Amino acid sequence: MPISQRTQVGIVGAGPAGLVLSHLLYLQGIDSVVVENRSRQYVEERVRAGVLEQGTVDLLTAMGVGERMKTEGLVHYGIELRFEGRSHRIDFQDLTGGKGITIYAQAEVLKDLNNARVATGGQVFFEVENVSVQDYDGAKPKIRYEKDGNACELTCDFIAGCDGFHGICRPSIPDGVLTEYVREYPFGWLGILADAAPSSEELIYTYHDRGFALLSMRTPQISRLYLQCDPEEDIDLWSDEKIWQELQTRLASNGWTLTEGPILQKGITGMRSFVVEPMQYGNLFLAGDSAHIVPPTGAKGLNLAVADVQVLARALTRFYATGSRCLLNKYSATCLRRVWKVQRFSWWMTSMLHRFPNESPFDHRRQLAELDYVTSSRAAALTLAENYVGLPME
Ligand code: APR
Ligand code: PHB
Repeated sequence: MPISQRTQVGIVGAGPAGLVLSHLLYLQGIDSVVVENRSRQYVEERVRAGVLEQGTVDLLTAMGVGERMKTEGLVHYGIELRFEGRSHRIDFQDLTGGKGITIYAQAEVLKDLNNARVATGGQVFFEVENVSVQDYDGAKPKIRYEKDGNACELTCDFIAGCDGFHGICRPSIPDGVLTEYVREYPFGWLGILADAAPSSEELIYTYHDRGFALLSMRTPQISRLYLQCDPEEDIDLWSDEKIWQELQTRLASNGWTLTEGPILQKGITGMRSFVVEPMQYGNLFLAGDSAHIVPPTGAKGLNLAVADVQVLARALTRFYATGSRCLLNKYSATCLRRVWKVQRFSWWMTSMLHRFPNESPFDHRRQLAELDYVTSSRAAALTLAENYVGLPME
């Protein structure tokens, strides 16, 4: 006989989507239980995103989990686009009326959220196994899982599928319900974490004949850098020396030097755009990477996950306060309006900044013209800036 438990909202996944949702619901007096198949340490040590939109920063602050972000996060009011050896700053503060971004690792956001959940009696169960979701098209959805060898059954009113692209919630939805939209890119990113002081105050996106490169950071002592590579590359064939040499070549600019240092972590990730529609089925709601994936060029993955659960938390709050499902019924349509605009921006940044195999000379010249336009027209720069700092929530 499984150990039975009851809550209002069952949440699968303790990544940004799951933990932000759980705490947002707590702040509204709504009970939730989060089940996560990895350990807390594993989730908090994964090297993931690092750029927080203004809206994400404001939300985390309003939730009471922004204190360390405020002291340790790096606030930036612009980025640099570099091509043909020249550098051009996109001034967010000027173009967006004062908005910026904050560099603060996703892992740190999760630490802050987990600490807040523990401090407020939140129920986040790590290292669960064999998670499945049932009866979500009825009035008593269930999440079944095993914890410490014990079979458990969580009965709830709603299930939030915050279990990422490889989770079980999206695949649990019956065939024929969902439509998938996919674009695979013919390249990936080789990313490194290095014990080297960042060689720029702000992020540098570079378009180079040999391919894209990005200079980012985590702290004043730790650099985060990426270079475009074949998605099937074997990371073991990339020595630290070879990585730094390629980064030096692609990021080179007159009078500027790239500081090197010991590489602490390196990896290659593929790149795709993915959206599933709708993002809900019965009382199951998909949020974050379980519903969509963006290429990292626009730094949107974490921010889009947070936006989804803001919409879901607002809808659940309305339901529990009034019994009305009107916002719940509009959840998918509301989220997808933002999702597709963010997909467009991420695709545009990726298409503008990467070298495509088999591209024509025309395409190459067109890309250079795009970069020239964005760095010489205020109107063009504004479109980049307003998307990068984050479009307003509906
Ligand atoms: N059961 C329980 N938990 C699961 C299962 C499962 N079957 N499958 C996956 N999970 C967990 C993962 O271990 C992960 O901790 O769900 C969580 C999903 O978190 P993310 O993948 O981070 O997705 P999301 O919360 O939507 O945040 C998106 O995270 O991965 C980055 O680049 C992504 O920045 C983006 C952000
Ligand atoms: C990062 O710092 O990890 C980062 C920054 C900007 C991006 C992608 C990743 O576009």
